[in-house]
Amino acid sequence: PRRPLIVPSVLPADFARLGEEIRELSDAGVDRIQWDVMDGAFVPNLTFGPDVIAAARPHSDVPFEAHLMVINPDELLPRYVAAGCELVIVHSEACTHLHRTLGRIRDLGARSGVALNPHTPADVVENVLSETDLVLAMTVNPGFGGQAYIPAVERKVARLRRLIDDSGLPVELEVDGGITTETIPGAAASGADVFISGSWLYAHPDGKPAAVRQLRAAAA
Ligand code: DX5
Repeated sequence: PRRPLIVPSVLPADFARLGEEIRELSDAGVDRIQWDVMDGAFVPNLTFGPDVIAAARPHSDVPFEAHLMVINPDELLPRYVAAGCELVIVHSEACTHLHRTLGRIRDLGARSGVALNPHTPADVVENVLSETDLVLAMTVNPGFGGQAYIPAVERKVARLRRLIDDSGLPVELEVDGGITTETIPGAAASGADVFISGSWLYAHPDGKPAAVRQLRAAAA
């Protein structure tokens, strides 16, 4: 099994101190930092444009990933890669030509990822595993942090794990939404190896380094 990767979401950060918040996350021993990009159309919330991410880029050496919860990712891809995201994740539900969009992300020099909302079956990615470096199984309905983990998604995570292992391809399997030390063991046991945490990590009483250590231990 692969070493579990712990990736915080920037969503709960104090946006008035974004540079400091990014430095703090980087110093907490995280593997990557995820920007939850929302356009107010694909999901009912609006967050980070590429210029915000570009402004934060110099404050950390930790790789950035962009989770594009947007209705038309193709138009935005070049700008999020240029802003410094080394991994760009698009939603399968927002892509008419998912195979081509994933290839375009790689052509731009970034690694590609595809996200599935809770209702979307695992089989949607069956024909694009060769085009993607990561599959993200949402364990909440996207749009907001602080929501409850949906345990039923674990069956889908297990199926995705089988599809990935049968393909023999080095595709990462990420989960996002309601991830805490309580829920991460089930997600890990189902086959996930990358874990996004937002509200739980930010609210941890012992600080972010302890939260990261506890999540990593609980996922092992
Ligand atoms: C939902 C967001 C959240 C965020 C993490 O659209 O993607 O899942 O990353 O939120 P928490 O960890 O607070 O559930």
